[in-house]
Amino acid sequence: KQKTYKFPAGFLWGGATAANQMEGGFHEGNKGLNIADVLPGGKERLKILAEPGFNFEIDPDKYYPNHEGIDFYHRYKEDIALFAEIGFKAFRLSIAWTRIFPNGDELEPNEEGLAFYDRVFDELHKHGIEPVVTISHYEMPLNLVKEYGGWRDRKVVTFFERYVAAIFNRYKNKVKYWMTFNEINSGLAFPIMSLGFSIEKEEDKFKPTFQAFHHQFVASAMAVKLGHEIIPDSKIGCMIIFAPTYSFDSNPENVMHALQEERLFNNFCGDVQVRGEYPAFINRYFKEHNIELDIEEGDLALFKEHTVDYIGFSYYMSRTEKKEKTPEEIGEGNMIGGVKNPFLQASDWGWEIDPEGLRIALNKLYDRYQIPLFVVENGLGAYDKVEEDGSIHDDYRIDYLREHIKAMGEAVEDGVGLMGYTAWGCIDLVSASSGEYSKRYGFIYVDKHDDGSGTMDRSRKKSFFWYKDVISSNGERV
Ligand code: BG6
Repeated sequence: KQKTYKFPAGFLWGGATAANQMEGGFHEGNKGLNIADVLPGGKERLKILAEPGFNFEIDPDKYYPNHEGIDFYHRYKEDIALFAEIGFKAFRLSIAWTRIFPNGDELEPNEEGLAFYDRVFDELHKHGIEPVVTISHYEMPLNLVKEYGGWRDRKVVTFFERYVAAIFNRYKNKVKYWMTFNEINSGLAFPIMSLGFSIEKEEDKFKPTFQAFHHQFVASAMAVKLGHEIIPDSKIGCMIIFAPTYSFDSNPENVMHALQEERLFNNFCGDVQVRGEYPAFINRYFKEHNIELDIEEGDLALFKEHTVDYIGFSYYMSRTEKKEKTPEEIGEGNMIGGVKNPFLQASDWGWEIDPEGLRIALNKLYDRYQIPLFVVENGLGAYDKVEEDGSIHDDYRIDYLREHIKAMGEAVEDGVGLMGYTAWGCIDLVSASSGEYSKRYGFIYVDKHDDGSGTMDRSRKKSFFWYKDVISSNGERV
């Protein structure tokens, strides 16, 4: 007999997106340019993200898919109606900072931008869907990048505070669930999208990276403070990538190495945002990399007093570590490092598929922090084939999601406090790392392609009907 899983009552089932990957309308409503607007589509993007010295300019000969996204800016009603048809309880989206403050450093917000999200939140509530809002998701105003060097400059904290105060005041009766920075720890791997600057060619990356983190921690704690003041019943979370890190084998040197990598990548940011202080292990790392932070009076007290209410995290893959790696051992698509795990298969983009890793992630996080967890991203990027009759049989996606949902069910049985699950890219959208449309995650297909062609028409994949059944049974029929 098949096992059935019990998820808590009120579990927030739904889907997740980000403004820059979905909205389009990049010049409409007085929106300013942001980082995603200067990232070209295709494999070239990966190179830009990984290498120093990016100039943040638009090249007229290149294609910029985020300019159009999937046109949610105009089609949000149709899309939200489809989410409602699946039965979403929650929908995760981000607010584009540049719709509210087009250059980031203005004193007054842009009314057209504010009004757009009013319409979106109203539409969601009309269908009984709870908005879950990421305040900053890889879309810093380009002006802040160019004029201030992104999060290198402490002044950006003030601009962020202004932005956050504007959206909390405006949406205080419409949005209860918030997250500050998307995948904040991704700044360790991809500073451009996350920290808003490119490392200079000859520059030592350590000091600017960790100083920028410090500024983000201040901004995040400030947002928690303001959020609790302005919206007393709000829940404000952090958001990290959590890729549980395994030792390649039982050689203690590899075990220690895996532990160090795990602490730096998976735990460092969460420790500050959840426990409200820099973890002890980071002192040695700072010393060894000559990092001395500029910390202002009051910063550390702010961290301590304004910790997050829950941990949002993305889970796509685990990571396997070994102290000495040969080039052949390194997994092609392992965006955050490590070696190939001989027990796992990978997606077409080389992301290793590991459902048990989600159970491990949930247990590790809950053991360490004991506050509610929210899986706010998980999913399979895959090529989809449209049959002649228009149907799409994405059984591979169903299999992937089913195994991950079961792993969550096991974790709940293990005693983990879990609030919800929003599957990434619930509607096909532009990939963040490769700028492709063809890397699809959705339950809803969007007819739009890497060369820019396509009608933007929406259609339901097989997984659409499967997920609907999962939600209506609160995860029992997975
Ligand atoms: C996360 C991001 O890294 O993973 C999303 O928060 C992103 O913005 C998602 O889209 C999937 O990654 P990709 O590169 O396949 O789009």
